[in-house]
Amino acid sequence: MILDRRRFLSVAAAAVTAPSLSACGDVTLPADGVPRSDFDEDSTAEQVTDGMDLKGKIAVVTGCTSGIGFETMRVLAKRGCYVIGTGRTLESAQQACSRVQGVTTPVQLELSDFDSVAACADAVRSLNSPVDMLICNAGMRGGERQTVNGIEKHFVVNHLGHFILVYRLLERLYLSWQGRVVVVGSRAAYRSAPPDGIRFDDLGAERDYSAGRAYAHSKLANALFSLELARLLKGTRITSNSLHPGLIDTNIARNESALARGAFGLWTSLAGKSIEQGAATSCYVATSPLLGSTSGQYFEDCNAVIVAGDNHMHDQEQASRLWLLSEELTRDYLVEIRRPDWNEFENGLRKKRD
Ligand SMILES: NC(=O)c1ccc[n+]([C@@H]2O[C@H](COP(=O)([O-])OP(=O)(O)OC[C@H]3O[C@@H](n4cnc5c(N)ncnc54)[C@H](OP(=O)(O)O)[C@@H]3O)[C@@H](O)[C@H]2O)c1
Repeated sequence: MILDRRRFLSVAAAAVTAPSLSACGDVTLPADGVPRSDFDEDSTAEQVTDGMDLKGKIAVVTGCTSGIGFETMRVLAKRGCYVIGTGRTLESAQQACSRVQGVTTPVQLELSDFDSVAACADAVRSLNSPVDMLICNAGMRGGERQTVNGIEKHFVVNHLGHFILVYRLLERLYLSWQGRVVVVGSRAAYRSAPPDGIRFDDLGAERDYSAGRAYAHSKLANALFSLELARLLKGTRITSNSLHPGLIDTNIARNESALARGAFGLWTSLAGKSIEQGAATSCYVATSPLLGSTSGQYFEDCNAVIVAGDNHMHDQEQASRLWLLSEELTRDYLVEIRRPDWNEFENGLRKKRD
């Protein structure tokens, strides 16, 4: 068997950090019934969208100010897509948008502040347009234990904030010819999440907190959220999928100690992807014509995989339970999800034409 350099280093690095990564030897297998792409870990976002004309499409990309989110926005906009890019401040979103060619609109979004999430969704809704792609990319990792209203911060930012955003924008996705929710998760969800999965009884992470575990816990929530959303949307034209972008030297380690940041930088430089490659799976899942009816899947390196082993990546029972819990925790910020009345919509269009 020939291992390329990156794979070899990846395996070596995984072996060195094995206790924190995976206790159960999870392995990924191609998912049945999902079209295979010719793309792989080396593909870039530009390559996976090569030749596409996304004019007339609208995408929301959260966390467009750096790393994978910025590259995702840049490439979608380059292909003609109108991109609404979010930043924690309006200024940072404006700055990012001004650095890309194409049509973009900056919007403020601080995921730990649910008023900000609601305001962001309302700003998008006020455009009165369908949303074709909602790419939940923003994320944080690391730092001392912090809570927001008693809930551990990674879970709030990486999961609950996006939960509200998607919930409030579903109505806009229904208006799209084929709406897609794309959730940027992480392989950490099956390598370092608590063995029993979502800690329904300890959302404040009061028990044995570690930043790595809290991050992985929130990334498992990302995968399960997408899985349940796909189940709830069965029979509609909206799809929901989650993904691991790869290991990429972005700003994601900014809250870690200097030592951990250094180790992450070294590891990614030896075994990681470039940022251009890191945005490929997001762009592929958001745009590929092959995936119009693919939903509830988890992707790595531009292909859907099943994660075999003792993990909760495809645990439908936990996914449904997490959904109910998330609704409970964010109830004040949710809106009734209205499927559009097509007659009303058609009549509106007809009136506009007349
Ligand atoms: N890099 C990797 O190796 C890797 C591996 C697996 C998964 N991922 C996932 O990939 C996604 C993108 O991360 P990245 O690597 O591109 O990291 P990044 O460069 O740090 O980008 C993260 C983005 O999320 C935004 N963000 C952070 N906290 C936020 C909050 N509270 N509210 C709203 N936005 C917030 C950041 O805004 P500011 O710039 O204002 O902070 C930034 O735009 C994340 O979901 C991450 O978990 C990354």
